[in-house]
Amino acid sequence: MVYPIVKYGNPVLETPAATITEFDTPELHKLIEDMFESMYAAHGVGLAAPQIGISKRISVIDASNGESPAEKLVLINPEIVHVEGKQTSEEGCLSVPGFRELVSRPRRVTIRAQNAKGEWFEKTGEELLARAFLHETDHLNGRLYITHISMLKRDLIRRKVRKMQKAGEWS
Ligand code: NI
Repeated sequence: MVYPIVKYGNPVLETPAATITEFDTPELHKLIEDMFESMYAAHGVGLAAPQIGISKRISVIDASNGESPAEKLVLINPEIVHVEGKQTSEEGCLSVPGFRELVSRPRRVTIRAQNAKGEWFEKTGEELLARAFLHETDHLNGRLYITHISMLKRDLIRRKVRKMQKAGEWS
């Protein structure tokens, strides 16, 4: 099932999500399937559950855009355990459509997370994958990428979004 993507302005995106405590259930497997489906339908490389209105600590990532099944990642209750270096490039978010901003992030990131069975694993990513680890973990902490840009740029986005909301072009 493809869920609609929740947009900036909805409080669920700015609320820390709840820890997942039950694993390997039909509900969890269905949620993971639906999250991948919703992410591919929206042409994203990552999706966090709050973005489909579900305030739980789970996100999916596929930096290959559906090209390579081996790159499908499910991160449950993820924690960033190590960061190093620096990269600056454009970042966007399915929940803030139509905007992209330069964001500086660490270049190499190690994440620790649980899989659908509840087993812990660690994974290190660089560049785009490192950025996705940070962006998606931020989502689960109620934080959007625009909190990493200047207040001036953030206010500009906020004003444009408010205009679109008034015009009924943003819901
Ligand atoms: Ni996002």
